[in-house]
Amino acid sequence: MRENWTSKAGFILAATGSAVGLGNLWKFPYTVGMNGGGAFVLIYLFLVFVIGIPLMLTAITLGRKTQLSVYGAYKSIDRRWTFVGALGVICSFIVLAFYSTVGGWTLYYFKTALFGDLVTTDSEALQKIFHDLMTSPGNLIFYQTIFLLATALIVLKGIQQGIEKYSKWMMSSLFILLLMITVRSLTLPGSMEGIKYLFIPDFSMVTPTVLKNALGQMFFSLSIGMGSMITYGSYLSKKINLLHSAVMIPILDTSVALIAGLAIIPAVFAFGFEPSEGPSLMFITLPAVFASMPMGTLFAILFFILVIFAAITSSISMLEIAVSYFVDERKTSRNHATIITTGIIYVLGIPASLSLSGYYPINVGHLSLFDLYDQLSSNILLTTGAFFMTIFVGWVLKPKNAIAEIESSSIHFRLAPIWSVLVRYVLPIAILTILIESYRNFFQALFH
Ligand code: PHE
Repeated sequence: MRENWTSKAGFILAATGSAVGLGNLWKFPYTVGMNGGGAFVLIYLFLVFVIGIPLMLTAITLGRKTQLSVYGAYKSIDRRWTFVGALGVICSFIVLAFYSTVGGWTLYYFKTALFGDLVTTDSEALQKIFHDLMTSPGNLIFYQTIFLLATALIVLKGIQQGIEKYSKWMMSSLFILLLMITVRSLTLPGSMEGIKYLFIPDFSMVTPTVLKNALGQMFFSLSIGMGSMITYGSYLSKKINLLHSAVMIPILDTSVALIAGLAIIPAVFAFGFEPSEGPSLMFITLPAVFASMPMGTLFAILFFILVIFAAITSSISMLEIAVSYFVDERKTSRNHATIITTGIIYVLGIPASLSLSGYYPINVGHLSLFDLYDQLSSNILLTTGAFFMTIFVGWVLKPKNAIAEIESSSIHFRLAPIWSVLVRYVLPIAILTILIESYRNFFQALFH
């Protein structure tokens, strides 16, 4: 018997846990910063509504219909499309190898904050903390290992006792912590600059690259394109209203991204930093921000707890993609599957960490292994997977069969005709157009 979520709320929290992660707290604020602010936010919101929500529905419907892992989902409907499922499983290894590297950094920062060594306004000292971590293979490996072990231990316990239980309490605490930090950040003098930056669009900043970044960010943030949502959907009972979930999850995820933007960007402005700092924004800029506020150490500790919770509830959903493949298709036990998959990710992930440290400069073309994984995850793999998924549901499974699945829980899907047109025509064309730009950018970064 396949395990089910205990309730709809349990599923929504677990799926929102998958969606809310480093993508929201770490990537979103700096991606906004590097892509010009308000215009990017607006495009992002537009994409969530037009592409994100319809595809979320597509993914969880595919999962619930087949009650199988991503691999089995494609295979059971049309064998010739098994490759898309296989692609999802392979992606999950690469993305988690990358994700656990950054997950490890957040653990290290939590420890540093806890020992009171993080909170300072001295930007040189902060850069040194980051730099020291990057050049310390021992620390990189140690914290990445802990992160992966925590992920594996939760997945080991299965759906109800593992993923659902931990997602529930981690996500609830996350919402509370995030609100506390946002209120603190918004009440700082000078925070208005940041609010303007986030919400007043300057359309002269919009280029094809910005569009590509917004789409990549959206797939990453919503966990769409490699099978997390298909996998989580496969543990849904036939009674659950899929429409409601498919709308709730993206709305919650996007709200957290915006709130994270509101928590981080105004504070960055208030203390005279640059939001376009890039990936180090959270690690170098933010501690200085905490240092400048009363009870800064406490807020820094809370903040990194929040980031760790967000990251773990996402990494478990990545691992579950691969674990469910082994359980369903290879008939291994959950314990075995978890050990095998974590082992593979470890082997892929440690070199990525080390490629940063300078001790083992592993490069592919012009990219370090870490950057290669990052680029692949953010711009290529998920977008490609999402493209195949929409073609698959639009033309192979066919919208009418998907709609029957959606309506099987005795609801009427009023927007079904619009959704069908989106899935068959609009989304494949839109995604493909942007995907071409993504591939062009990727190969440029790799070879030039
Ligand atoms: N959505 C997660 C985040 O924002 C990352 C993720 C991507 C999780 C793909 C699962 C699948 O951090």
